Amino acid sequence: MDINENAVFPEDYADRIKRVLITEREIKAALEAEGERISREFEGKPLLLVSVLKGSFIFLADLCREITIPCEIGFMAAQSYFGGTTSAGKVEITYDIKQDISRYHVVIVEDIIDTGRTLKEIVDILRGRNPLSLSVVTLLDKPERREVELNPDRALFTIPDHFVIGYGLDCGELYRNLPYIAEYDISPESDQ
Ligand code: IMP
Ligand code: MG
Repeated sequence: MDINENAVFPEDYADRIKRVLITEREIKAALEAEGERISREFEGKPLLLVSVLKGSFIFLADLCREITIPCEIGFMAAQSYFGGTTSAGKVEITYDIKQDISRYHVVIVEDIIDTGRTLKEIVDILRGRNPLSLSVVTLLDKPERREVELNPDRALFTIPDHFVIGYGLDCGELYRNLPYIAEYDISPESDQ
Protein backbone atom coordinates (compact mmCIF):
# COMPACT_ATOMS: atom_id res chain seq x y z
CA MET A 1 0.00 0.00 0.00
CA ASP A 2 1.44 3.34 -0.99
CA ILE A 3 -0.72 5.68 0.99
CA ASN A 4 0.68 9.23 1.19
CA GLU A 5 3.92 8.18 -0.43
CA ASN A 6 4.92 11.77 -1.10
CA ALA A 7 3.94 13.10 2.26
CA VAL A 8 5.77 15.84 4.00
CA PHE A 9 5.30 15.89 7.76
CA PRO A 10 1.52 16.20 7.96
CA GLU A 11 -0.29 18.83 10.04
CA ASP A 12 -2.97 16.29 10.87
CA TYR A 13 -0.46 13.76 12.23
CA ALA A 14 -2.35 13.15 15.48
CA ASP A 15 -5.85 13.35 13.96
CA ARG A 16 -5.06 10.44 11.67
CA ILE A 17 -4.67 8.11 14.63
CA LYS A 18 -8.32 7.05 14.49
CA ARG A 19 -8.55 4.58 17.36
CA VAL A 20 -6.37 2.17 19.25
CA LEU A 21 -6.98 -1.39 18.09
CA ILE A 22 -4.46 -3.24 20.25
CA THR A 23 -3.05 -1.78 23.44
CA GLU A 24 0.50 -2.02 24.77
CA ARG A 25 -0.72 -4.39 27.50
CA GLU A 26 -2.42 -6.69 25.02
CA ILE A 27 0.72 -6.79 22.88
CA LYS A 28 2.89 -7.52 25.92
CA ALA A 29 0.64 -10.37 27.07
CA ALA A 30 0.63 -11.95 23.60
CA LEU A 31 4.43 -11.65 23.37
CA GLU A 32 4.96 -13.32 26.73
CA ALA A 33 2.83 -16.29 25.67
CA GLU A 34 4.53 -16.55 22.28
CA GLY A 35 8.03 -16.23 23.79
CA GLU A 36 7.22 -19.06 26.18
CA ARG A 37 5.83 -21.21 23.37
CA ILE A 38 8.91 -20.68 21.16
CA SER A 39 11.23 -21.37 24.11
CA ARG A 40 9.46 -24.67 24.75
CA GLU A 41 9.27 -25.74 21.11
CA PHE A 42 12.93 -25.06 20.30
CA GLU A 43 14.56 -26.01 23.58
CA GLY A 44 17.94 -27.64 22.83
CA LYS A 45 17.74 -26.73 19.14
CA PRO A 46 19.65 -24.13 17.12
CA LEU A 47 17.18 -21.29 16.65
CA LEU A 48 17.40 -18.36 14.25
CA LEU A 49 14.81 -15.59 14.26
CA VAL A 50 14.63 -13.80 10.93
CA SER A 51 13.04 -10.40 10.65
CA VAL A 52 12.08 -8.78 7.39
CA LEU A 53 12.77 -5.06 7.67
CA LYS A 54 11.52 -2.62 8.50
CA GLY A 55 8.05 -3.19 9.92
CA SER A 56 8.93 -6.06 12.27
CA PHE A 57 11.89 -4.45 14.04
CA ILE A 58 9.99 -3.64 17.24
CA PHE A 59 8.11 -6.95 17.29
CA LEU A 60 11.38 -8.84 16.92
CA ALA A 61 13.12 -6.76 19.61
CA ASP A 62 10.34 -7.34 22.12
CA LEU A 63 9.65 -10.98 21.21
CA CYS A 64 13.27 -12.08 21.44
CA ARG A 65 13.43 -10.74 24.99
CA GLU A 66 10.58 -13.07 25.95
CA ILE A 67 12.56 -16.05 24.65
CA THR A 68 14.54 -17.80 27.37
CA ILE A 69 16.62 -20.20 25.23
CA PRO A 70 19.71 -19.30 23.17
CA CYS A 71 18.82 -17.85 19.77
CA GLU A 72 20.37 -15.91 16.93
CA ILE A 73 18.89 -12.97 15.06
CA GLY A 74 19.06 -12.23 11.36
CA PHE A 75 17.71 -9.43 9.20
CA MET A 76 16.53 -9.37 5.63
CA ALA A 77 15.23 -6.55 3.50
CA ALA A 78 13.27 -7.00 0.32
CA GLN A 79 12.00 -4.89 -2.50
CA SER A 80 8.81 -6.15 -4.10
CA TYR A 81 7.77 -5.62 -7.68
CA PHE A 82 4.34 -6.95 -8.37
CA GLY A 83 2.58 -6.40 -11.67
CA GLY A 84 -0.99 -5.21 -11.30
CA THR A 85 -2.52 -8.11 -13.17
CA THR A 86 -0.20 -11.02 -12.54
CA SER A 87 0.05 -12.92 -9.31
CA ALA A 88 3.59 -13.97 -10.16
CA GLY A 89 5.67 -11.87 -7.84
CA LYS A 90 9.21 -10.66 -8.02
CA VAL A 91 11.07 -9.97 -4.86
CA GLU A 92 14.60 -8.67 -4.79
CA ILE A 93 16.50 -9.33 -1.59
CA THR A 94 18.36 -6.10 -0.86
CA TYR A 95 19.85 -7.23 2.45
CA ASP A 96 20.35 -10.84 3.46
CA ILE A 97 21.05 -12.89 6.55
CA LYS A 98 24.62 -14.08 6.99
CA GLN A 99 23.92 -17.45 8.64
CA ASP A 100 23.97 -20.73 6.72
CA ILE A 101 20.40 -21.65 7.57
CA SER A 102 20.79 -25.35 6.85
CA ARG A 103 22.05 -25.51 10.44
CA TYR A 104 19.08 -23.77 12.04
CA HIS A 105 15.42 -23.96 12.85
CA VAL A 106 14.28 -20.70 11.29
CA VAL A 107 11.36 -18.65 12.56
CA ILE A 108 10.38 -15.73 10.35
CA VAL A 109 9.15 -12.88 12.52
CA GLU A 110 6.75 -10.73 10.51
CA ASP A 111 4.80 -7.58 11.34
CA ILE A 112 1.70 -8.10 9.24
CA ILE A 113 0.49 -10.41 6.51
CA ASP A 114 -1.68 -8.56 4.06
CA THR A 115 -1.79 -9.93 0.50
CA GLY A 116 0.95 -12.33 1.58
CA ARG A 117 2.89 -11.85 -1.63
CA THR A 118 6.15 -10.54 -0.17
CA LEU A 119 6.29 -13.10 2.57
CA LYS A 120 5.46 -15.98 0.24
CA GLU A 121 8.48 -15.09 -1.90
CA ILE A 122 10.70 -14.90 1.17
CA VAL A 123 9.42 -18.21 2.49
CA ASP A 124 10.15 -19.81 -0.89
CA ILE A 125 13.67 -18.34 -0.97
CA LEU A 126 14.47 -19.49 2.57
CA ARG A 127 12.93 -22.92 2.05
CA GLY A 128 15.27 -23.33 -0.93
CA ARG A 129 18.20 -23.02 1.48
CA ASN A 130 17.06 -26.13 3.38
CA PRO A 131 16.68 -24.97 6.97
CA LEU A 132 16.11 -27.68 9.62
CA SER A 133 12.60 -26.26 9.85
CA LEU A 134 10.87 -23.07 8.75
CA SER A 135 7.92 -21.41 10.40
CA VAL A 136 6.27 -18.00 10.38
CA VAL A 137 5.06 -16.01 13.34
CA THR A 138 3.25 -12.80 12.55
CA LEU A 139 2.07 -10.12 14.92
CA LEU A 140 -0.95 -9.27 12.77
CA ASP A 141 -2.88 -11.15 10.15
CA LYS A 142 -5.39 -9.63 7.73
CA PRO A 143 -6.76 -12.83 6.15
CA GLU A 144 -9.46 -10.97 4.17
CA ARG A 145 -6.76 -9.40 2.05
CA ARG A 146 -4.89 -12.55 1.11
CA GLU A 147 -4.03 -12.99 -2.57
CA VAL A 148 -1.71 -15.98 -2.36
CA GLU A 149 -1.83 -19.15 -0.35
CA LEU A 150 0.16 -18.44 2.74
CA ASN A 151 -0.86 -19.16 6.29
CA PRO A 152 1.33 -18.23 9.22
CA ASP A 153 2.05 -20.91 11.79
CA ARG A 154 1.13 -18.34 14.45
CA ALA A 155 -0.73 -15.04 14.23
CA LEU A 156 -0.87 -13.15 17.51
CA PHE A 157 -3.80 -11.00 16.40
CA THR A 158 -6.20 -11.37 13.50
CA ILE A 159 -7.63 -8.05 12.38
CA PRO A 160 -10.19 -6.89 9.82
CA ASP A 161 -9.22 -5.07 6.65
CA HIS A 162 -8.11 -1.78 8.19
CA PHE A 163 -4.91 0.06 7.47
CA VAL A 164 -3.03 0.01 10.76
CA ILE A 165 -0.08 1.92 12.16
CA GLY A 166 2.21 1.77 15.16
CA TYR A 167 4.46 -0.76 16.87
CA GLY A 168 6.74 -0.81 13.82
CA LEU A 169 4.07 -0.35 11.16
CA ASP A 170 4.15 2.84 9.16
CA CYS A 171 2.17 5.03 6.91
CA GLY A 172 4.56 6.98 4.70
CA GLU A 173 7.38 6.05 7.14
CA LEU A 174 5.64 7.76 10.07
CA TYR A 175 3.98 6.30 13.20
CA ARG A 176 6.36 3.34 13.60
CA ASN A 177 7.20 4.58 17.10
CA LEU A 178 3.66 4.45 18.52
CA PRO A 179 3.75 1.87 21.32
CA TYR A 180 0.29 0.49 20.39
CA ILE A 181 -1.45 -0.51 17.16
CA ALA A 182 -4.00 1.93 15.84
CA GLU A 183 -6.31 2.25 12.91
CA TYR A 184 -5.15 4.90 10.47
CA ASP A 185 -7.78 7.38 9.35
CA ILE A 186 -7.85 7.36 5.57
CA SER A 187 -9.86 10.52 4.97
CA PRO A 188 -11.00 10.91 1.36
CA GLU A 189 -9.88 14.53 0.92
CA SER A 190 -6.23 13.65 1.40
CA ASP A 191 -6.08 10.46 -0.63
CA GLN A 192 -3.45 10.60 -3.34
P1 IMP B 1 1.97 -8.10 1.55
O1 IMP B 1 3.03 -8.59 0.62
O2 IMP B 1 0.81 -7.46 0.84
O3 IMP B 1 1.50 -9.10 2.56
O4 IMP B 1 2.63 -6.87 2.29
C1 IMP B 1 3.00 -6.91 3.58
C2 IMP B 1 3.72 -5.62 3.92
O5 IMP B 1 2.90 -4.48 3.57
C3 IMP B 1 3.91 -5.56 5.42
O6 IMP B 1 5.12 -6.16 5.81
C4 IMP B 1 3.81 -4.08 5.69
O7 IMP B 1 5.07 -3.46 5.54
C5 IMP B 1 2.87 -3.54 4.61
N1 IMP B 1 1.49 -3.45 5.13
C6 IMP B 1 0.44 -4.23 4.83
N2 IMP B 1 -0.67 -3.85 5.50
C7 IMP B 1 -0.29 -2.80 6.27
C8 IMP B 1 -1.00 -1.97 7.22
O8 IMP B 1 -2.20 -2.11 7.52
N3 IMP B 1 -0.24 -0.99 7.80
C9 IMP B 1 1.07 -0.78 7.52
N4 IMP B 1 1.75 -1.54 6.66
C10 IMP B 1 1.08 -2.54 6.03
MG1 MG C 1 5.46 -0.56 5.21
